Amino acid sequence: MSNENKQVKHVTMVGDRTIPPKDARFISIYIMGQRYKVPETLTIVKAMEYAGYQFKRGCGCRGGICGACGTFYRVLGDHNIYTGLACQTVVQPDMILAQTPFFPPNRADHIGLLKSKLPPDEQIATLYPEIFRCVGCGTCTRTCPMGIDVMNYIAFFKRGDVLGGAKESFDCIMCGLCVVRCPANITQMKVGMAGRRIAATRLIPSSAVTRKRAEQVRAGRYEKMLSELGQMDKEKLKEIYVSREREPNLSQPGEWMPKDQSHL
Ligand code: SF4
Ligand code: SF4
Ligand code: FES
Repeated sequence: MSNENKQVKHVTMVGDRTIPPKDARFISIYIMGQRYKVPETLTIVKAMEYAGYQFKRGCGCRGGICGACGTFYRVLGDHNIYTGLACQTVVQPDMILAQTPFFPPNRADHIGLLKSKLPPDEQIATLYPEIFRCVGCGTCTRTCPMGIDVMNYIAFFKRGDVLGGAKESFDCIMCGLCVVRCPANITQMKVGMAGRRIAATRLIPSSAVTRKRAEQVRAGRYEKMLSELGQMDKEKLKEIYVSREREPNLSQPGEWMPKDQSHL
C-alpha cells in the first residue's frame, strides 16, 4: 500500500477530498506503523484516504461534531502523546497515528434515571459513583479536542451542581478520548450526558416552542410526510435534498423563514 513515490495528481476527487495545491510539499507520516508520503495540506482523515485507506463504517461527519474520529498521535522524537479529531487536525511531519478503536464505555440506565425520584445530584452519584474516584490529575482536560475543562465538569457533579456540570460539558462531542486516558476509569462523557439530560428534564424550564412541536409530533402531524419520504427512491431523495431552500449563512433567529412553510 506504500505510496512513497506518489506524485500529487491534479484531478477532481470525489466526496469532500481536497485537491492538493499545486506546490504542496510531501511529508512523511506513519499509519499503523507504515510510512506514507502525503501532501502537507491534508487533514488526518484525508491523508489516510490519500494513502489508500477507505472508511466504510463509522466514518463520521467529517465536520468536527460527531466525535467518531478521535485520534492519538505522537511525533518522532517527541515523548508527548497528542490528541485530535482526524477530520480537523492537519498532518505534520513524522506524525505517528493511532486511531482509537471503538469500545463501548459504561453507560448507566439513563431511562431509569429520568424516572427516578431521587434529587438530581443523587441521581448522578448513584449512577456514576466512580466520579468520586477522580484524582484531579487533569489528564482529561488536557486530552479533550474540544477544549472542555473536563475535570471541572466532573468536579461540578461531585459537588452536586448538576446544572453547572451540564453547562460545562455542553460542547462534548462524545469522542471518548478523555475516557481512554482517565486513570480512575471514569466515563466522563456519559456522566456529562446524564447531567445534561437531568438538567433538561428537571432543572431548566421547558421551552414553549419545543412543547408545541412535541405535541404536533404526538398528534401525527408529520406521519404523512415521513411515509412519503420513506417511499421515495434514492434519486428522488437526492433531488429534493439538493433543491431544498437553504437558510442564508449567518441569519439571526427569527430573521428567515422558507417560502414553503407547509413542512414546518
Ligand atoms: S482524567 Fe480522570 S482522574 Fe484525572 S482529572 Fe480527569 S476525571 Fe479525574
Ligand atoms: S469531554 Fe471527553 S468525550 Fe467529550 S469531547 Fe472532550 S474528550 Fe471527547
Ligand atoms: S468525523 Fe465527526 S468529528 Fe471528525
